[in-house]
Amino acid sequence: IQGALSEGPLQGRRILVTSGPTHEPIDPVRYIANRSSGAQGSAIAEALVKLGADVVFVTGPADAARPEGVTLVEVETAQEMLRAVQGSLPVEAAVFCAAVADWRVSSASDSKIKKTKGGLPVMAFAENPDILATVSQMPEGRPALVVGFAAETDDVIENATAKRIRKGCDWIVANDVSPATGIMGGTENAVTLISDAGSEAWERMDKVAVAEKLAERVAEALEA
Ligand code: CTP
Ligand code: CA
Repeated sequence: IQGALSEGPLQGRRILVTSGPTHEPIDPVRYIANRSSGAQGSAIAEALVKLGADVVFVTGPADAARPEGVTLVEVETAQEMLRAVQGSLPVEAAVFCAAVADWRVSSASDSKIKKTKGGLPVMAFAENPDILATVSQMPEGRPALVVGFAAETDDVIENATAKRIRKGCDWIVANDVSPATGIMGGTENAVTLISDAGSEAWERMDKVAVAEKLAERVAEALEA
């Protein structure tokens, strides 16, 4: 039995983190993906674990090392991620870090599409479920705190503020991923935390430091 002093502020709290990209198959050898490394999500999960939380970590096929001390659920597609998230509820807080593919190919081919068929392939797309919005708007059993991310390249704060309202989450962590910032795929992040109380810009720092600061905020919010 651990003494009270060694127990973190999130001891006994079950928290969900989604992370990484999703892969949406085109055929058995090809897929649609994005540049998310999963580094920020892994760092957030580890920071929450350090504060004592029981973390369920639902990740797409990310390059980043899997965090230690979590319940790991690995998925490939957005639809699988939604099912994994729903299967992990209830939780007290949920942090949606994943860069979920917005669209999937509506009917992926069971066999490899060949050039020799002639002409260029034409693909029809379907919109993927919005996992963050689905959980934020749950009529029953909604986590007490729902945090989304918004990676934007233009009008970052305006877009992220609108996104928070549209999806119904409590906080949005907004960042500017324009190529000039070098954020995407890098080790640092410059974020603005947006809540109903307004927006708070954090200085540019290591992704691990962003994660630790966010985990502390989550702990404060759940205590309150
Ligand atoms: N998100 C999600 N499921 C989706 C798309 C996004 O859970 N199908 C979550 C992300 O994990 C993130 C937040 O929603 O926390 C914002 O993602 P983003 O891609 O910025 O939002 P979109 O609504 O997809 O808007 P955009 O057109 O800017 O991509
Ligand atoms: Ca998107």
